[in-house]
Amino acid sequence: RGPGKGGDLEFAPIAPVASTVDDFTVPEGYVWEPVIRWGDPLFAGVPALDFANLTAETQAGQFGYNSDYLDILADPNGKTGVLVNNHEYVNPGIMFAAAAVDAAEIRRRGDFYKNAQGFSVVELTRKSSGEPWNYVVGGRRNRRITVETRFELTGPAAGSDLVKTAADPEGRWVQGTLGNCAGGTTPWGTILSGEENFDGYFAWAADTAGQQRYRATPTTSTATGWETYDPRFDAHDADYVNEPNRFGWIVEIDPEDPTSTPKKHTAMGRMKHEGANVIVGRDRRAVAYMGDDQANDYLYKFVSKDRVSGSRKKNLSLLSEGDLYVAKFSGNSPAGEITGTGALPADGKFDGSGAWIPLTANGVSVVPGFTTEEVLVFTRLAADAVGATKMDRPEDVEPNPKTGKVYLALTNNSGRAATAVDEANPVTGNRYGHVIEITETAGQSGTTFGWSILLLCGDPATNANTYFAGYPKELVSPISCPDNVAFDSEGNLWISTDGAPSTIGRNDGLFKVPLEGRERGRVQQFLAVPREAETCGPVIHDREGLVFVAVQHPGENGSVAAPRSYFPDYATAHDPAAGIAAAPRPSVVQVYRDEEPVKPGRPRGRG
Ligand code: FEO
Ligand code: CA
Ligand code: CA
Ligand code: CA
Repeated sequence: RGPGKGGDLEFAPIAPVASTVDDFTVPEGYVWEPVIRWGDPLFAGVPALDFANLTAETQAGQFGYNSDYLDILADPNGKTGVLVNNHEYVNPGIMFAAAAVDAAEIRRRGDFYKNAQGFSVVELTRKSSGEPWNYVVGGRRNRRITVETRFELTGPAAGSDLVKTAADPEGRWVQGTLGNCAGGTTPWGTILSGEENFDGYFAWAADTAGQQRYRATPTTSTATGWETYDPRFDAHDADYVNEPNRFGWIVEIDPEDPTSTPKKHTAMGRMKHEGANVIVGRDRRAVAYMGDDQANDYLYKFVSKDRVSGSRKKNLSLLSEGDLYVAKFSGNSPAGEITGTGALPADGKFDGSGAWIPLTANGVSVVPGFTTEEVLVFTRLAADAVGATKMDRPEDVEPNPKTGKVYLALTNNSGRAATAVDEANPVTGNRYGHVIEITETAGQSGTTFGWSILLLCGDPATNANTYFAGYPKELVSPISCPDNVAFDSEGNLWISTDGAPSTIGRNDGLFKVPLEGRERGRVQQFLAVPREAETCGPVIHDREGLVFVAVQHPGENGSVAAPRSYFPDYATAHDPAAGIAAAPRPSVVQVYRDEEPVKPGRPRGRG
């Protein structure tokens, strides 16, 4: 089996990689190569990346920065497809030399940053099914979405006074998307993405309870500098006091139609959305699971009012109407047995039952003292009011398509106080994070569930109370700070991490975890990303022997003068003569078995 022949993903786990290593590491017998890198042209006539001359105009036609959510959607012919990737944020410190800049330069850079974020949609091609992919310059579906692209607000909070601004007195149209983190691909073929750390782009007034719940402290300046020349990023400005309320949504884009207007779905609530993953329940409703990535925030689910139908056009509006729920977890062990160390309680499991508490019913608020619009725009306040369970930073949460069980990555929470541990968040100062397995007990759209902790992360060699679903600890790969989750065709869980360098001194990576049988809980590391990078957007096409990841912020603690990573162009970028062109480039990477001779001239990554 090799490229072109299909095949599984049998591999021997890699050894953990020290956090000083600037390399992309794959298992024995595998190779890696970028599919597309930051700055690669998407359209004919667009120049290649010139790191010494970054402009808004060229970036608008190039692949964006800091790749996060990723999917690779093959067309039925198997030979063409489309790659969708979002670009969460920029790293100004490794894009431009540190120097005093005037107002004109702040604006020039700011406009460049606006075009480096958002989404890229890029067509792919290959000779036959099972082969690695190449991207197509000028593909029909190629598209860039940026911080200036027009979005439509849908759902009950569209048109609300809470989202009106001087530029949009109707409260229905938003310029751009911010902080796009994880996401999910819907059964009808669209891409959902969470607007996560949107607050950091605004000079923040923090002058209402609603604003304070999303960022407690006022600020007057931001890293991108947009507030200095674009009034909508100054939340102190009376004309734009509601502009931050227009971000923090789940956005939906249709990768098949490059002229379509992307949407922001207010019915799904507003928070620091990590992402959303949809599964269709037995009642045919679309059920989306969503995490709010902040310490002590909540897990949510959305259930569509209408049923998924055979009409793609109808499905495109499914997420505009429905009900929003927030999770309350109850443990089944005595509180005294939850010691904060991670030591298992007497029944041998951190587990229990849970309830999905409705925030709306039939689309209308059921939270006392909150209008429907307030529930949706200030969702965190509504969830506070109903007593939801404060979690250790809910990241990606995704249903297993094989079993319907739901897997929730809780990345870490250093602020978890000893007095505030509970059975679902049982570790004081939770440094390494954990993963919860949720079993819906009243159907996918029901309001009760069971749960248990699948993994308590860490390095079992040095951390006493790691837990791997009962699998022998000495046989697993160390894992810390679970972030994104994905599944292969057999229903195995794959987890990517963000935060391993500072917690276990290792580069972040991608890990496979079987969920059934004797191998349940056996964490096996498949790859490691380079120094200072985060592993994002894993896509596991095991039947084709292909694994894809987005490598985000490689070498982010360096500078233009002193890069700390040369990913991915190691062969050329190590030459000091390359000067400032030797910058790390966030990229989408494909990994596959190296079972055919390398053809001369074909670029291959280092394995
Ligand atoms: Fe953008 Fe929660 O990671
Ligand atoms: Ca993330
Ligand atoms: Ca228990
Ligand atoms: Ca994530």
